[in-house]
Amino acid sequence: MRVIAIDGPAGSGKSTVARAVAQRLGLDYLDTGAMYRSVAFACLRRGIDPLDAEKVAALAPSLDIEVAGRVTVDGDDATEAIRSPEVTKAVTAVAANPEVRAEMVRRQRAWAESRGGGVVEGRDIGSVVFPQAAVKVYLTASDEERARRRSHEVRADDVTAVAADIARRDHADSTREASPLHVAEGATVIDTTGHTVDEIVDQVIGMLP
Ligand code: DC
Repeated sequence: MRVIAIDGPAGSGKSTVARAVAQRLGLDYLDTGAMYRSVAFACLRRGIDPLDAEKVAALAPSLDIEVAGRVTVDGDDATEAIRSPEVTKAVTAVAANPEVRAEMVRRQRAWAESRGGGVVEGRDIGSVVFPQAAVKVYLTASDEERARRRSHEVRADDVTAVAADIARRDHADSTREASPLHVAEGATVIDTTGHTVDEIVDQVIGMLP
């Protein structure tokens, strides 16, 4: 099984790079953040408080989540809805829930096993999900660059507000007890600030054994 693990904070360029690496190598790509967002989306839709750990833990295994191209949750297209500010806020508590994480990790491993590997993007891919990955990369970028990228992505004019939201998420993701965001052992840190996507993709592909 050949896994390329790409981790990093919001706005570091993970999705763009992971998708491009997968395309160049003819591999499948998995956005694990979309899986946690899908659980958060399902909570909100059912009126479950994302902080109600027991209810959220019971809900997660029952959900049918597809994140190939379009994102569907129990058959309903949620591709745009999982990027809403409400879901972005709710996902923090959902992703900190150890039972939700265990269920998502199980699904991520099954995904890779069924296709002999792939490019997997998230926060704990190199540290927890696939510690034996062929390549482990931790992407970063300057705070300004990350806020700029994210503003563009969510079509927000207020870069300062986006920067504040990124700072909130960085803090929550890095200080939570369950699988906090950190540089995995053996991972190569790549600062994407001021580099083109192609340059980063070349560097990642060049690391393949
Ligand atoms: O990458 P993203 O912004 O779509 O991720 C959404 C949330 O899910 C983010 O708050 C971090 C969390 N996440 C996680 O805890 N572990 C992952 N493997 C992927 C995402």
